[in-house]
Amino acid sequence: MSALRLGVNIDHVATIRNARGESYPDPSRAAEVAMLAGADGITAHLREDRRHISDADIVALAALTRKRGRPLNFEMAATDEMEALALAHRPHAACLVPERRDEVTTEGGLDVVGQHNRLAPLVANLRGAGIRVSVFVEPDPRQILAAKEVGAQVVELHTGAYCLAVREQSGDSEELLGRLRRAAEQAHSLGLEVHAGHGIDFETVGEVAAIPWIAELNIGHFLIGEAIFTGLEQAIRRMRALMEGARMARVAEVAA
Ligand code: PXP
Repeated sequence: MSALRLGVNIDHVATIRNARGESYPDPSRAAEVAMLAGADGITAHLREDRRHISDADIVALAALTRKRGRPLNFEMAATDEMEALALAHRPHAACLVPERRDEVTTEGGLDVVGQHNRLAPLVANLRGAGIRVSVFVEPDPRQILAAKEVGAQVVELHTGAYCLAVREQSGDSEELLGRLRRAAEQAHSLGLEVHAGHGIDFETVGEVAAIPWIAELNIGHFLIGEAIFTGLEQAIRRMRALMEGARMARVAEVAA
């Protein structure tokens, strides 16, 4: 069972900053705090419409994470513009996500099956520049197989449906969790590194962290929201403790 890393997504620090159109609060400062609090890496999504993270933020975050020796995970749409930016900044990792202008947040995973011919050369170009490539997909066996076929090294499983089902007590959360487990096992057996994220909070992190094939969680919105009440450092420390507690309990269960 692999160790479990935490990537902190700081997009919504930029959302708050942009509400005023000025420079406060600074996402790089949040990234510093996150790393001090135990984040293993920083994730940022440069959207086509620049609604939160800006180009200047990516320059600053790339420099900061390099200085601190931590990975920057650059979330990007599969467009020529984002490919050029990724190749210019050379982050440790790039996570390919679907993007629609009118969506509130990343809705659903990338259709890797349907976009094979577009994605395969993009993945090859990014990998050729030394960038570790991940694709953000629904826990669907066809998408996971397609992720392997386009040459991605990592799949990030979309946990949004599971987390929403838990929050809304909709009754299908066990089935959705089972789907995540099966997808993680499939991806691992194909030799893909498995990440997960979207919508994770203190309530849902335990079950996701207990899935043994998952190596990294990427968490943003909830942590930035929780920072309003307890501070970012404490929110991250608590998230880490819950992740580690769930993983250790699972290790003990397997060993018993
Ligand atoms: N992973 C990916 C690929 C995402 O697009 C997002 C949201 O931007 C996250 C993780 C984090 O989701 P959340 O902000 O809901 O924690």
